[in-house]
Amino acid sequence: MGSKVTIDVSNTQGRKRIFSYEDHDTFMVGRMNDCHLCIEDDTYLSRHHFIMEVNPPHARLQDLGSLNGTYVNGKKVGGRDVTETPEEALSRYKFPWVDLKDGDVISTGDTTFRMIIQSPDRVTGPIRCQKCGRDVSNESGAARGGTYICESCQKSAESSPFELLQQFLDENRLNRPLVAGRISNTSRLGFTQNEAMNFSDWDVVRVLGVGVFGASYHIVHRSTKKQAALKLMLPRTAAGKDVQESFLRDTQVVQKIKHHNINEVFESGYRNGIFYFVMDYCNVGNLESLRRGGKVQTTFLVLSMLQVLEALTTAHNEGYIHRGIKPQNILLNSADNNLTTRISDFGLTRSFIRNGLSGMTVTGSAVGSYPYTPREQVVDFRVARPETDIWALGATMYNLLTGEFPRNFMHGKDPLDVILNGDIIPIRQRDPSIPLDIAEIIDHAVRNDPSERYQHAGEMLSALKRVWKKTG
Ligand SMILES: Nc1ncnc2c1ncn2[C@@H]1O[C@H](COP(=O)(O)OP(=O)(O)O)[C@@H](O)[C@H]1O
Ligand SMILES: [Mg+2]
Repeated sequence: MGSKVTIDVSNTQGRKRIFSYEDHDTFMVGRMNDCHLCIEDDTYLSRHHFIMEVNPPHARLQDLGSLNGTYVNGKKVGGRDVTETPEEALSRYKFPWVDLKDGDVISTGDTTFRMIIQSPDRVTGPIRCQKCGRDVSNESGAARGGTYICESCQKSAESSPFELLQQFLDENRLNRPLVAGRISNTSRLGFTQNEAMNFSDWDVVRVLGVGVFGASYHIVHRSTKKQAALKLMLPRTAAGKDVQESFLRDTQVVQKIKHHNINEVFESGYRNGIFYFVMDYCNVGNLESLRRGGKVQTTFLVLSMLQVLEALTTAHNEGYIHRGIKPQNILLNSADNNLTTRISDFGLTRSFIRNGLSGMTVTGSAVGSYPYTPREQVVDFRVARPETDIWALGATMYNLLTGEFPRNFMHGKDPLDVILNGDIIPIRQRDPSIPLDIAEIIDHAVRNDPSERYQHAGEMLSALKRVWKKTG
């Protein structure tokens, strides 16, 4: 059995409830009916009182600017003054997360929450950072056991794509066993079936960009001149052999979707504490490269989105959700005078989170995508439905056409509060020159309530095709 977080809830009237988590999730308490624990008649509670994020064996809590505050072991952690709005209180507290440990007691008025954190896999004795060799047993990320790169080495690797690459390629570590990834269609890349990729045959041409958990590089095979992109992902928590295999298996399942407009991954694996993916290289870069003066021309965007929606329709039909759609994951490749749009990183974010490798990344904070996060991802963290991709795609279109996001993320405002309570601004309020029929499609995609959106990429595709036919 893996780690488990249990929240034992009781109140002064003797009512009891138990919430148990073995996977990454959120737990929100308040009077609103979208809270996981909704106590409508408890006037002590605010509408959204506090939120907890659990990623066993870790758990942390944030008060959501409640009127009466939240107490952890008798100490007040947040809450607002009577004269303050929840937003003002949250910005005053700088949205602090409080780390919780086994035995902690949280109280809000009549209700008490006792934390029971079990971590049977916990490794005793020194846990050495794979990179610097320090004993880092005290770091929360090391708690799950397995190979681990410490927080400080993670930070330096994340800030420098060259350092990350160097660690990945470190010759001294090459004889460590690789977790074998899938190798398919290898003739396109110039190596043979079942032969683990030999990175010494490849030259790194340049850094393509730094991502949320790592970076991507353009690589060229020295003798065949085949081109590819190498993506490195650095886990935030320790990864044992079972977790390494489980994450790679999850990503390989998604890679079964074959579509002209989905960027193909040829090989994946794990070495030197880093996950790697070798994939199609897209020579124009991502959708950002179409921006002129901060905005993309409507015609360009529609042409790209028709291709993206074709691919998403196939994926949704086969039951796959991306969960990481944003402009940086929509790539463009130019060949023979044709510009092809390809969705990249299909399912990677979702699998990374699901295997607990993303650390504490509630609603996509570390996934770098607060602005592309639909509301239900906070209140229903593990949700992965087509409507979730639809919202993110709508927000992507919204941003590329206007340079803004559907919600206002103002400086000093807690992004979590903006997602929970912020209004969605109709796109023509940002720019009245956006054609009405395109605006309708985007506004429909970014509705707060998932049931009011397109339910499936196919529906959105049909709507966009109708508009395109009228214009074309
Ligand atoms: N296969 C690829 N071809 C061209 N550019 C890519 C490719 N993969 C990633 N990039 C670019 O590299 C940057 C970093 O991407 P990535 O490592 O996937 O991080 P993230 O998805 O978290 O932004 C992005 O700007 C992305 O558009
Ligand atoms: Mg990406």
